[in-house]
Amino acid sequence: MISPVVLAPMAGITDKPFRRMMRQFGSQTLFTEMVGVESLHRNHPVTRKMMDIRDEGNLIVQLVGINPGAMVYAAQMAEANGAVGIDINMGCPVKKLIANGSGAALMKTPDVAARLVSVVAESVSLPVSVKMRIGWDDTHINAVSFAQTLVAAGAARLTVHGRTKAQGYAGTADWDIIRQVKAAVSVPVYANGDITDKTSADTALAQTGADGVMIGRGALGRPWILQEIESGIRPPIDRLSLVLQHLDLLLDYYGKHGIFVARKHIAWYARGKKGVAEFCQKVYAEQDVERVKKMITDFLKGEG
Ligand SMILES: Cc1cc2nc3c(=O)[nH]c(=O)nc-3n(C[C@H](O)[C@H](O)[C@H](O)COP(=O)(O)O)c2cc1C
Repeated sequence: MISPVVLAPMAGITDKPFRRMMRQFGSQTLFTEMVGVESLHRNHPVTRKMMDIRDEGNLIVQLVGINPGAMVYAAQMAEANGAVGIDINMGCPVKKLIANGSGAALMKTPDVAARLVSVVAESVSLPVSVKMRIGWDDTHINAVSFAQTLVAAGAARLTVHGRTKAQGYAGTADWDIIRQVKAAVSVPVYANGDITDKTSADTALAQTGADGVMIGRGALGRPWILQEIESGIRPPIDRLSLVLQHLDLLLDYYGKHGIFVARKHIAWYARGKKGVAEFCQKVYAEQDVERVKKMITDFLKGEG
């Protein structure tokens, strides 16, 4: 069962260590980072590692790509490894993906998008969902017809990020178009974009009539956020032990390189604290794990 408040797929962020952090705060549905299907098909070790999900529950694997055969290969692997759903990325604005027609470029080719959905839906017994935007740019807002095409092709759920590809992550999300999509299709629709707390989640649900909400940037440095939004109460947290635990998980997973991956997370956990800029500068200049841990401890000791 997909929970009504879910974590957004975020490349470079929602990796296994991040998901372990989130899991302490509940069993809500989480997403992997986007997994490049062509790269997986070529057996690229970094992409392959992203499919190591056998020990996780309630996890949807998000796939990105354009080649139907590679998409099916990846979807079947995700199913065999225990995913509860397959999501196809039709919203990513990254140039490399757009150049080969995948990610948000699929919103310009509904027929190609629909075919991807139907071949994947036929190849697995899991629900196949799509994460899309509202359109390519201000003059090409096609979310409603695009959504209808995908549902006709077999999409079991849609998440709509209320921005165009041209907007990237700037400006505000247009929740009214999400409302129009929800009104036009029979499958569950999740609202995404600018939902960061209980108040914005409730407002988005009321304005869109959506079946659930997806949280992206609001989860950065806040692994408890899904629980907080579901229950309306922030669980008690010990920020210092959370950061140290996350750092250890990253080191376990990525080896020495983990200290570099950890930097942005450390900065997000420390956000809003007095002296954070200077603290981050010091952390970013240090590669010795023990010294980084001491900096974190000195800075966050006693912080809730
Ligand atoms: C760093 C970063 C990485 C992202 N990676 C992905 C991704 O892999 N797949 C995807 O569908 N969306 C990706 N997104 C988009 C988010 O899932 C989400 O749609 C967007 O951030 C808007 O939601 P928010 O306002 O809650 O952050 C990414 C966003 C960010 C900021």
